[in-house]
Amino acid sequence: NVPIRTVCCIGAGYVGGPTAAVIALHNPHIRVIVVDRDQKRIDAWKGRHLPIHEPGLEDVVRIARDGGAEWRRRSSVGQARAGAIDGETPDEVVEPRRQPNLFFSTACVETIKEADMCLISVNTPTKKRGVGAGRATDMAAFEGACRDVAMNAKPGCILVEKSTVPCKTGQLMKDIMEAHRPGVVFPVLSNPEFLSEGTAVRDLMQPDRVVIGCESTISGHRAAAALANLYAAWVPRSRIAPINIWSSELCKLAANAMLAQRISSINSISAICERTGADVGEIAKSVGMDPRIGPQFLKAGLGFGGSCFRKDIASLTYLSESLGLPEVAAYWQQVLTMNNFQRDRFARNVIATLNNSLRGKKITILGYAFKKNTGDARESPALDVIRILLEEGPKSISIFDPLCSESDIKRELSVLEQEFAVCKPEGPVEVLSDPYVACADSNAVLVLTDWDMFKITEQAKPTKPESSADSYDGATPSGLLRITSNLDQVNISKPPTPPRTPKMSPLPADLQSRLLPEAVCPADCTEC
Ligand code: NAI
Repeated sequence: NVPIRTVCCIGAGYVGGPTAAVIALHNPHIRVIVVDRDQKRIDAWKGRHLPIHEPGLEDVVRIARDGGAEWRRRSSVGQARAGAIDGETPDEVVEPRRQPNLFFSTACVETIKEADMCLISVNTPTKKRGVGAGRATDMAAFEGACRDVAMNAKPGCILVEKSTVPCKTGQLMKDIMEAHRPGVVFPVLSNPEFLSEGTAVRDLMQPDRVVIGCESTISGHRAAAALANLYAAWVPRSRIAPINIWSSELCKLAANAMLAQRISSINSISAICERTGADVGEIAKSVGMDPRIGPQFLKAGLGFGGSCFRKDIASLTYLSESLGLPEVAAYWQQVLTMNNFQRDRFARNVIATLNNSLRGKKITILGYAFKKNTGDARESPALDVIRILLEEGPKSISIFDPLCSESDIKRELSVLEQEFAVCKPEGPVEVLSDPYVACADSNAVLVLTDWDMFKITEQAKPTKPESSADSYDGATPSGLLRITSNLDQVNISKPPTPPRTPKMSPLPADLQSRLLPEAVCPADCTEC
């Protein structure tokens, strides 16, 4: 048994923050310290307004970080039963007031020095330049974190890959450790994260599976058991799967590639439907009723977005090619090609609907994020749509999103700066905080994110939709995208000035009953 008292999580992003918070919540006897080089992000994690928006996250962080609040959890008996019998109401125990055990810091070196286990959850985007640009994974941040660990961790510290990395990265970690600390044993585990943004807390609280990849050595198995024990505090053992480390690394890429493939498959059918008069919704429903296929990820739409699917499939194609398997690479590349085709087709439909010219016309985009319930502006399908529309020289494009900040949207749009001067105040794109102002005098309103507030009412539905789409990232898709040149058809269900940072949606009922207290900002809050 390897005793774990202090866990260091490197990277306070969409994965590191929520994962560390949930581990801390369920393991009150362990200190969990999240470190990041980004001072602003750490300050936000320490403050009242967290840097990322996830339903339920404020509650989890408040209990683990601030302590003191009572909360309910399943008893171990209830847990075992819930694991064994689906849908059974578990027994509950009320946790007493507790000491804070979740901390956020920029002191990476000091924290690594005292850690028994380091979870590495730093960003692994696609390489922008050099060998493999556009496809290979940029491992710079990951390698940097490994070097920090190699130089500072105590002997025997367990290293856990939480970032999504190419297969065989575990070997790279071992090589880095060996180069800096020859002869010292540092067990390396792979523990890929399958959460989706927008449902991160629910996904972490009730994971379908926890995959732990380890080497077939005694120290490897011991390390895997130590990590499994942390999860077993709330995840039934039957869902914790110890596997070979290379399988573990590859299964994350495989899962994302296969989910994305379903979306591209149904989108390819949607293109045929539009030419033939078949209804892709009816086809998806019928196909999805086949139990061998299932209904999820079968809704035609704008295609997938988000920070993972595109980059993970690109990484898989690059990996396949590096392994001398060009046919495998070409197979998965087609999933990406179909995704781009769908965005392109949608934007061209908009232009065609507006008489093939956008000159002098105003277009409004409702929703920038790649899906609802997240403020993550990265890899949004909206960017490609905007790029194609701008080529037609519209008078202006107005964007409204209830969670994405103006600065995040502008940062994403900056790739279009050289061509279209989008970030200049007098440029053609503006980000507005009021959806009604954004829609005023528009020639077309494009709903690009499936936020509930943009849902089209029954009465306002056009008899025959001109085009429809969905936003995806790996969660259950819903929502509708519609091109309309008639503003009466769009119902924005919120009052005219929604807050830039709306209150989090409530937790799902089953989690709510397990987490009691309500987050309330004190009257003298200096951050509001
Ligand atoms: P992110 O970009 O939100 O966060 C990464 C953080 O790591 C940043 O705050 C950055 O400042 C920090 N960082 C980078 N190098 C560091 C270093 N050497 N020391 C300390 N901090 C450092 O990234 P996100 O979205 O959390 O993703 C992290 C990993 O998890 C990626 O590999 C991603 O593919 C994977 N993943 C992401 C999911 C998502 O929905 N965002 C879902 C599942 C996996």
